[in-house]
Amino acid sequence: MCGIVGIVGNNNATKILENGLEKLEYRGYDSAGIFVADEANDYLVKSRGRIADLEAKIGEDVQGNIGIGHTRWATHGEPTELNAHPHTSQSGRFVLVHNGVIENYDDLKANFLAEDTFYGETDTEIAVHLVEYFVEQGLTTKAAFQKALKEIHGSYAFGLVDKNDRETIYVAKNKSPLLIGLADGFNVVCSDAMAMLEQTNQFLEINDGEMVIVTKDAVSIEDYAGNQIAREPYTAKIDLADMEKGTYPYYMLKEIDEQPATMRRMIGEYTDENGQVVVEQDLLDSLLASDRIYIVAAGTSNNAGHASKQVIEQLTRIPVEVHLSSEFGYNMPLLSERPFFIYLTQSGETADSRQVLVKTNELGYPSLTVTNVPGSTLSREADYTMLLHAGPEIAVASTKAYTAQIAALTILSKALGEAKEIAEAQDFDLVQELGIAANGMDVMISEKAMIQEIAADYLATTRNAFYIGRAEDYYVSMEVALKLKEISYIQAEGFAAGELKHGTIALVEEGTPVMGIITDPITAPHTRGNLREVESRGAHTLVIVSEELSKSGDQIILPVVHPLLRPLVSVIPGQLIAYYATLERGLDVDKPRNLAKSVTVE
Ligand code: G6P
Repeated sequence: MCGIVGIVGNNNATKILENGLEKLEYRGYDSAGIFVADEANDYLVKSRGRIADLEAKIGEDVQGNIGIGHTRWATHGEPTELNAHPHTSQSGRFVLVHNGVIENYDDLKANFLAEDTFYGETDTEIAVHLVEYFVEQGLTTKAAFQKALKEIHGSYAFGLVDKNDRETIYVAKNKSPLLIGLADGFNVVCSDAMAMLEQTNQFLEINDGEMVIVTKDAVSIEDYAGNQIAREPYTAKIDLADMEKGTYPYYMLKEIDEQPATMRRMIGEYTDENGQVVVEQDLLDSLLASDRIYIVAAGTSNNAGHASKQVIEQLTRIPVEVHLSSEFGYNMPLLSERPFFIYLTQSGETADSRQVLVKTNELGYPSLTVTNVPGSTLSREADYTMLLHAGPEIAVASTKAYTAQIAALTILSKALGEAKEIAEAQDFDLVQELGIAANGMDVMISEKAMIQEIAADYLATTRNAFYIGRAEDYYVSMEVALKLKEISYIQAEGFAAGELKHGTIALVEEGTPVMGIITDPITAPHTRGNLREVESRGAHTLVIVSEELSKSGDQIILPVVHPLLRPLVSVIPGQLIAYYATLERGLDVDKPRNLAKSVTVE
């Protein structure tokens, strides 16, 4: 989704902004731009398409010591060069980049800017015009920015430069992420620490409702009433090497391969030398006091929630409901008396999930965020955080975060179930079973060549495809179908195997791929029956099955793991199938069209 970078006090501003924008590419965008200035000159360069397209337009002369840059994921207005950021005010004096959505832009335009001319269709252009409008009313830039912020409703992270003061970047945020980086002799601004890690690992968090004045050697944080706020920087613990692809052709493949190592790292992070699970006691106490767990998440994280429901319920005996963030906030079901909320979010920034957290915080309900990003918004705003320790996930199609989320909830359930003295939890040898699952993942990952052939055979040209399964296999079907549609653009759906015959079977034609996941002995015969039903109607069927349930002719055999951990292994073939089907179709695996890695608008 949209990304912001900014720099003040470094003569190499153009290169550093370009580099920062490249680091934000993974988040998904469709146009980009930079503004760079020195005392005498200023340059605004924008382009539709990739950062490489923008860089091709940036001439050698585009140099300066202050600048702001942006990657735009279109919300208001098409992804054109005209709508790309930075945007300028009516006279051109002010230059602004913005992430988020201004909800009252129509009112602002009508109330203050009726005389102005606008060139694009973005809400951002209105914001920068508004700053200039208040300056024309006699306010200083800072006061005008503050006044504009009070008038603007919605989500935003802003970076603003006044061409009459080329030593300052004004920034502010509400609901959209933004950080200030403290570098050696200069300062930077970014919506994601990764963008500026090459410059510094010292960052200042900015909270909603704060405005920051950033110069070469000073950072001043204020609330909108002008009260100064003191804050210490934190050290971002991200290893730059983790962000590199190395010898991999795509991040997605690297991240699929990293899953077993992530499992082993999580065992190390969450157990002591005796193999005892270590989870914050306050978190356990809070969960022990609850009568129902509500998992709220979007996309792949939501699928991980579904796949974790069984392990939580079996090990803790606490009922679990799994909800879509975008639905839950505005359509809240009747809650139990003592609900506990778990927010599953790889990025920790998803706006749909955050709006629910804001509401449950207002209602006073306890919450845990399970995330891959320390210091992310949902992590800061929930009562408790469990980290995934999966390393940065760059590919838009989430893989290692999915399995790490299931592992995190398994670890939590083990600790909670033991605290409740639930026999099933006491008997569950977490270190051993998670280790076996990690080995099982390794086995599946080593089957790449075979899975590549299957992807070519089944999915090279098909328009649609189905995954089916029951219970956990159904939840994994939903996830691997999501993977497939996200990157290969095949219309793929995951269905409850038994439900197929109640409608969806009408879509099955000669050659339609239907892939069944079978890991549960009790339902295995039924799912096999459902596969036969579609086969007799022309479907091209594929069986992904646990070794102990396999029969001759089955194509993908899954190693046996603990029944509660089956999704960790059964998801891997589907991840690889999506990857290879996308390669087969000649598409960019890591940067699927229209998608963003971290979706910071509702
Ligand atoms: C976006 C991404 C998905 C992700 C979802 C939720 O749509 O493209 O891959 O699953 O957001 O993200 P989160 O960071 O909250 O897990």
